[in-house]
Amino acid sequence: MADLSVRMCGIESPNPFWLASGPPTNCGDQVMRAFDAGWGGAVWKTLGQPIVNVYSRYGGLDVGGTKLVGLNNIELITDRPLAVNFREIAEVKKRYPKNVVVASLMVETKEEWRDIIARAEDAGADAHELNFGCPHGMCERGMGSAVGQEPAVLEKITSWAKEFATKPVLVKLTPAVRDITEPGMAAVRGGADGVSLINTIKSLMGVDLDRMAPMPLVGGKSTNGGYCGPAVKPIALFLVGALAREPGFRLPISGIGGIANWRDAAEFMALGASTVQVCTAAMHHGYKIVEDMIEGLAAFLDEKGMRSAQELVGRAVPNFVDWGALDLNSRVIARIDPATCIGCQLCYVACWDGAHQCIDLKPADALLDDKSAGGNGHGAPRWRVPVVREEDCIGCNLCSLVCPVPGCITMAETPTGKPPVSWDELVAKGGDLTLLAPRPDSAVVHTKEEMRAKLGAPAR
Ligand SMILES: Cc1cc2nc3c(=O)[nH]c(=O)nc-3n(C[C@H](O)[C@H](O)[C@H](O)COP(=O)(O)O)c2cc1C
Ligand code: SF4
Ligand code: SF4
Repeated sequence: MADLSVRMCGIESPNPFWLASGPPTNCGDQVMRAFDAGWGGAVWKTLGQPIVNVYSRYGGLDVGGTKLVGLNNIELITDRPLAVNFREIAEVKKRYPKNVVVASLMVETKEEWRDIIARAEDAGADAHELNFGCPHGMCERGMGSAVGQEPAVLEKITSWAKEFATKPVLVKLTPAVRDITEPGMAAVRGGADGVSLINTIKSLMGVDLDRMAPMPLVGGKSTNGGYCGPAVKPIALFLVGALAREPGFRLPISGIGGIANWRDAAEFMALGASTVQVCTAAMHHGYKIVEDMIEGLAAFLDEKGMRSAQELVGRAVPNFVDWGALDLNSRVIARIDPATCIGCQLCYVACWDGAHQCIDLKPADALLDDKSAGGNGHGAPRWRVPVVREEDCIGCNLCSLVCPVPGCITMAETPTGKPPVSWDELVAKGGDLTLLAPRPDSAVVHTKEEMRAKLGAPAR
């Protein structure tokens, strides 16, 4: 079995799976139960001057019957006394020396940073994570994302932390920036040993239309919170990949945002994350999800012939390029498998109204006397199976995305006979359009009547 242990900023972790700072890492008992379940590390709920939290704190986004596709919270940092938290960190480290405990920290002045870093190290924390990402409540007090959005301030506080710390310093970044490489490079200049991203995204979860107030309600009012969970994964993946491929950025990355299973984790790792952190999925389904994550990642690595999790890190980064480097002559077209199609015609509707009008229905009246129109064994009479007009297909993927039958619509690579050429190369060659393979004629408007005629159906 592949070796799942990883090394990040010099810290050994039994596996790449860490709990992110938040409710699942609020106290020692929780973290110990998490380690028993199999988590390799835990980033403690952010420590600072303990604050007062509100009742209630969370809002959820359900989509089509799926609960908690997104989670929003207005919780601040720890509301437990610092002395209690540090005592528990020491206890956890004593009982679980092989697991990683990272102290997430957020204070204001240089003196406070000196003090809290020293206390975290005395307690035995393996590393510090500077929380420069929280987008609600604390940023209004000049901390959290207020720091993450100001590269100069981020660099300065990181350099303080490096001055005081003997253990590695990770900087946790906010996604709410114009260009993630700016705070990322500021962390490099400040001397950080690594970065973690993303923290939550500033959001309003919804509006209670009876009480006419945003949610979650606190005494009839609400405030903007931080958004996370499966819905944020694409944003987080982009930001992790954007840092990983930045030429001057060479720090290890702990990837966070919507990770709920081994596949999510593997994607983050392939895009450059050495470890991954999970919050919402552990809140939703409990610590035991890590069992499947461990098993699934190990099986995947074995299947791909990789001997260790470390080998996966960054594998997809070279293939994450700017648009201008994509091959303009690479072509795919949609292919419908009539044997599995259930005839729902969702692809037809999507292509006509949301793409390039190149999926046709074989009109029923043209086929009324078609003796072979008896069905495909899956309930769809053959006349319900749409047909892709391949010469007009722009290969956008929409039909395959809406098709409810897995594998029924595939995107087939189709040779164009022209060598690869990117937009950047085309521009460099003076915009020579003869280098491009012929493309579907987008100027042609196909009406449904034209299609009926083409397919031999009588006009209506
Ligand atoms: C209720 C809640 C509380 C959180 N508290 C903290 C915190 O104290 N410090 C911190 O750095 N991040 C905090 N986070 C953010 C998470 O650590 C993580 O960055 C974010 O939720 C994205 O990961 P996810 O999609 O797996 O939840 C919190 C998240 C949630 C949902
Ligand atoms: S969406 Fe899929 S199943 Fe439905 S008609 Fe199109 S190909 Fe068939
Ligand atoms: S790939 Fe796009 S253009 Fe081609 S058939 Fe599907 S929806 Fe239509």
